[in-house]
Amino acid sequence: GRKVNGKVITELGTKVNPDKDKIEFDGKLFSKQEKEVYVLLNKPIGYVTTVKDQFSRDIVTDLIKGVDVKLLPVGRLDMYTSGALILTNDGDFIYKVTHPKHEVEKTYTVTLKGKIENNEVEKLKSGVKIDDYITKPAKVKILKIDEEKNQSRLAITIHEGKNRQVRKMCNAINKKVLALHRAKIGNIDVKNLEIGKWKYLNINEIEELLNN
Ligand code: URA
Repeated sequence: GRKVNGKVITELGTKVNPDKDKIEFDGKLFSKQEKEVYVLLNKPIGYVTTVKDQFSRDIVTDLIKGVDVKLLPVGRLDMYTSGALILTNDGDFIYKVTHPKHEVEKTYTVTLKGKIENNEVEKLKSGVKIDDYITKPAKVKILKIDEEKNQSRLAITIHEGKNRQVRKMCNAINKKVLALHRAKIGNIDVKNLEIGKWKYLNINEIEELLNN
């Protein structure tokens, strides 16, 4: 049977308020289901990946206006890293995507001081020691070596997400990181999204991300 606030309902067309009324159908409670929302932000440098900051620094959620659910970041980007950051109210999604077992591929563009040597690229690829941890095999591609500026640009793809992993990997080969940008999370990239801007991700993009 149907009950509203514990009273059996027999009349057709009984009005209910889903925010206030307790609605039961055959003993099961109906709750107002919050819709899952997925947002992709192209994070600028200088913003912290948190929803509240005790030091009143700029936080990533300040950049997302007009979304009426509480968004949480999926993993984090450090303050001086820019690029792809997903935010959602879907806790299951956060759990799945950030779980070490399933961690999805992430691609970073790194600008390093100095000219990178092939043997250094090989080290990054095969694994380097950061803290007490040896990084898993990574994909590393040289994008550009700028002799004039004395800089190298690399694309580094990792499956893991240790704290400040990419910076630490570069430090492990004695290279100074001048800039770090996350270009891609799984199938999702920020190529067509200006820095500081965000957009909704659709369910196909989210499902693809979970299946890869
Ligand atoms: N690796 C880093 O060093 N920083 C990030 O923000 C993400 C990955």
